Order: sequence, then structure tokens, then C-alpha cells
Amino acid sequence: LTALYNHYVLHTPVTFDIGATSLEERAEWLSHYADSGPHRLLVAVEDGAVVGYASTSPFGRKPAYATSVETSIYCRDDQRGRGIGTLLYSALFAAVEDEDLHRAYSGITLPNDASIGLHRRFGFTAIGVYREAGRKFDRYWDVLWMEKALR
Ligand SMILES: CC(C)(COP(=O)(O)OP(=O)(O)OC[C@H]1O[C@@H](n2cnc3c(N)ncnc32)[C@H](O)[C@@H]1OP(=O)(O)O)[C@@H](O)C(=O)NCCC(=O)NCCS
Repeated sequence: LTALYNHYVLHTPVTFDIGATSLEERAEWLSHYADSGPHRLLVAVEDGAVVGYASTSPFGRKPAYATSVETSIYCRDDQRGRGIGTLLYSALFAAVEDEDLHRAYSGITLPNDASIGLHRRFGFTAIGVYREAGRKFDRYWDVLWMEKALR
């Protein structure tokens, strides 16, 4: 999981982490997820190797945000476009469907046609763009926020 994520940290703007994440930091991140409840991490494994993951995380720290989650999804760089993202999001939304959740949000650094296409496919709609919200690789990046109604 750490290697999969660090590829995107080091070589792309899709995440606004800038320095490689250590195994210790990733272990701490992993400890925030459980086998039940609204905050879940699902990992796709093929032939014993991790090929992707998707998660729901707290959207905001304040208690009234408890019915909202932020989703995140990454496929291994050489495994994109094979339907793994679709499998992961299908399983993730099924896993939280009985939770007391009302909205899912995803922030997508532009451009990212694959991510926008995947999110649209799962019922996310665009709600706005934060212009130049992040600086990475010596330039500013726009972030498109998308929203999905949960039951
Ligand atoms: C974005 C990502 C998770 C999508 O997962 P994926 O397994 O590649 O996507 P899938 O093969 O399941 O395709 C699902 C839909 O996404 C869209 N899509 C996928 N690849 C695409 C591409 N290169 N261009 C445009 N749309 C694309 C399509 O709408 C596709 O539906 P279709 O097959 O009916 O046309 C994956 O490409 C990825 O990990 N990218 C790098 C990391 C990243 O950008 N993560 C998201 C951060 S917001």
C-alpha cells in the first residue's frame, strides 16, 4: 500500500502529499480503519499483490460532519483502466450502505479524466473547483470537488 501510494506522491499531483510516506506513517493511517462503521478501507489483491485500494474517511473533524465522508481511491500505476477502480468503489459503497451517512465527497486534482469518469459512473456530480488550492512541482493545481448522495 505504501509503495502504491508513494508513486503518486512522488510523480503526480493527484495527492497533495509531497514527500514519500514511511511505513510507520502508513501504519498510523491504516489504524484509523476498522472492519465495520463508516470509515472503511478496502484493498484489491490479485495473485497475492496489492493492485488498488479505496477508502471512506472523515470529511470534517466537527461532530455535525459525521454524516459525511471523503472518499479516496488509488490503483497501482500499471493496473489502471482494468476495472479495479469500479470493483473497489462498488464494494466500498456496499460496505457502508447501512451506515448513517448522507454525503460522500471527493477532491480531484485537475486534470484527471479517469477519476472524473469513475466518480461520475458512481453518481458523483461536480459541485465546484477550488482554483490553485495546492502547490506542488512548482505550480498551482485546481481541485474539483464532487459529491454523491448516500441513502
Ligand atoms: C482513477 C482510478 C482510481 C480509476 O480506476 P480504474 O480502475 O483505472 O477505472 P476503471 O477501469 O474501473 O474505469 C471506470 C471508469 O473510469 C473512467 N475511466 C477510466 N480510465 C479512464 C481514462 N484513462 N480516461 C477517461 N476515463 C477513464 C471511465 O468512465 C470508466 O468507465 P468505462 O469503462 O465504462 O468507460 C485509477 O485510474 C487510478 O488509480 N488513477 C491514478 C490515481 C488517481 O488518480 N486516483 C484518484 C485520485 S482523485
